Amino acid sequence: MSRSGKVTVVGAGFYGSTTALRLAEYDVFETVVLTDIVEGKPEGLALDINQSRSIEKFETKLIGATTTSEGGGYEKTANSDVVVITAGLPRKPGMSRMDLIGVNAGIVRGVAENIAKHSPNAVVIVVSNPLDEMTALAQLATKFPYNRVMGQAGMLDTARFTNFVAEKCNVEVSAVKTLTLGSHGETMVPVPSQCTVNGKALAEVLSQQEIAELVDKTRNGGAEIVALLKTGSAYYAPSAAAARMAKAVITNSNEVMPVCAWVNGEYGITGVYLGVEAQIGKSGVNKVIETKLTSDELSSLKIAAEAVRSKQADVKDL
Ligand code: NAI
Ligand code: 2OP
Repeated sequence: MSRSGKVTVVGAGFYGSTTALRLAEYDVFETVVLTDIVEGKPEGLALDINQSRSIEKFETKLIGATTTSEGGGYEKTANSDVVVITAGLPRKPGMSRMDLIGVNAGIVRGVAENIAKHSPNAVVIVVSNPLDEMTALAQLATKFPYNRVMGQAGMLDTARFTNFVAEKCNVEVSAVKTLTLGSHGETMVPVPSQCTVNGKALAEVLSQQEIAELVDKTRNGGAEIVALLKTGSAYYAPSAAAARMAKAVITNSNEVMPVCAWVNGEYGITGVYLGVEAQIGKSGVNKVIETKLTSDELSSLKIAAEAVRSKQADVKDL
């Protein structure tokens, strides 16, 4: 197995620590750096994951680094190829992702500036919420080209949709193909016309009402878990999504994935970070892939673009 490069995961909370573990177990990076502002937490978690190496049979090394808001500790992240930003507060029951914008904007801006200083060539994957706005903010704060900053949401929302369809149809998840685009929030756009079960169109397998119910369940997928957990939000499926994106970058796999990417003309939409399908490789987003949509789906995508555009315009002042 050939290993290369370095990935930094900023934030050693539930999302960050599970992402670091998944990345280590892929065994494709030389080094995974895990950081947090809570002193000792990233070092402790790194030690713990390193001690699992002989059991799980991977050689990737974990390094923990306590960082400060002023940039202390970032030397250990230097020259990362990929950076996953998970730093920030998660939702509490009853909160929307947008309720996190004030506090998380301050955190993400500081992190992004430090990353730009120490890893000027990195591809950045943002997961902190509200996702579409924090992705736009990370690009502004790093001043990186748009293709080198993207957000994780579509992989997760799509995986949730797939899971719900598989359960409803009582088939294996591998028999199901789904897609969601748009925002990671109210204007998420499930794309039933691209969904199949055992190769059959979703509309042939489920009624319109059943599809609408699953779409609604998917849109509320994060909130359902927040309500059950009571403190904190989902992290197993989210970390799987972010880790797969980081893996696609370091292995230059050119896989097509639903991600939050800068859209500049595709679908007739310009100048906004939005959930779309994109080909992911060494330089981040190689290109946005335009998927064939029905006119209703396209209208919903345009509505989502306008909804996130106005919020993204505000982040420069946060
Ligand atoms: P958590 O509370 O478990 O962890 C957050 C960590 O960030 C804490 O350990 C905290 O000390 C750390 N942190 C705060 N400021 C920092 C800084 N300046 N530098 C480094 N670390 C810092 O929360 P969790 O569950 O890990 O979630 C993290 C974020 O991911 C939240 O904003 C959450 O809403 C978001 N999220 C996004 C998803 C998506 O699909 N995009 C899905 C699930 C969560
Ligand atoms: C989720 O969808 C809270 O954004 C997070 O699980």
